[in-house]
Amino acid sequence: MVESRPNTPSSLAPLYEVPGGAASLYETIADCPRCPLARTRTRTVPGSGPLPCDLVFVGEGPGQREDELGLPFVGRSGQFLDELLGSIGRSRQDVYVTNVVKCRPPGNRDPEPVEIGACRDYLDQQLALARPTVVATLGRYSMARWFPGERISDIHGRERQFEGRWVIPMYHPAAALRNGSLRAVMKADFARIPDLLEAAAS
Ligand code: URA
Repeated sequence: MVESRPNTPSSLAPLYEVPGGAASLYETIADCPRCPLARTRTRTVPGSGPLPCDLVFVGEGPGQREDELGLPFVGRSGQFLDELLGSIGRSRQDVYVTNVVKCRPPGNRDPEPVEIGACRDYLDQQLALARPTVVATLGRYSMARWFPGERISDIHGRERQFEGRWVIPMYHPAAALRNGSLRAVMKADFARIPDLLEAAAS
């Protein structure tokens, strides 16, 4: 536990819409003191989108813009995520988007295991509320939760079933912004999602 009070009073948090059934979880996250990121965040970034939701995306952690606004994927990675969603006929309004850590790691460094561990049950609770058919992981930190020890270059776009739902590992949109050849790879991986949703529905 972090001893000093986090610098995010809950009055700063609710810029976002709280989906049905998630009010107490979002309040708990807004005041979360569980790890050192509580000392450096501006706002917590619990997630966006409706709950329940058939399609959930799990990224890594908030960046600077997300920390300012309390919303996930609002920067350049978010723009590419929106483009990818559009390519499968979906939009932010009908998907749930969250991260493995709900507070910004300073300087956008990678999240530490202790920080991911502290946030783990928040993600569990979000998945319980979402009851998704498909979870798409964005980047290696969310991938590691379901596919520990595997390499994204080996398994991206190859779904597996976990507890009755599909989990499909994807590159992080920021990787495609750095390496343009991954844009087409990500588009092809996203194109699998409608089939997975359809297969589950029929
Ligand atoms: N990258 C992430 O992994 N999550 C965000 O919310 C923004 C950028």
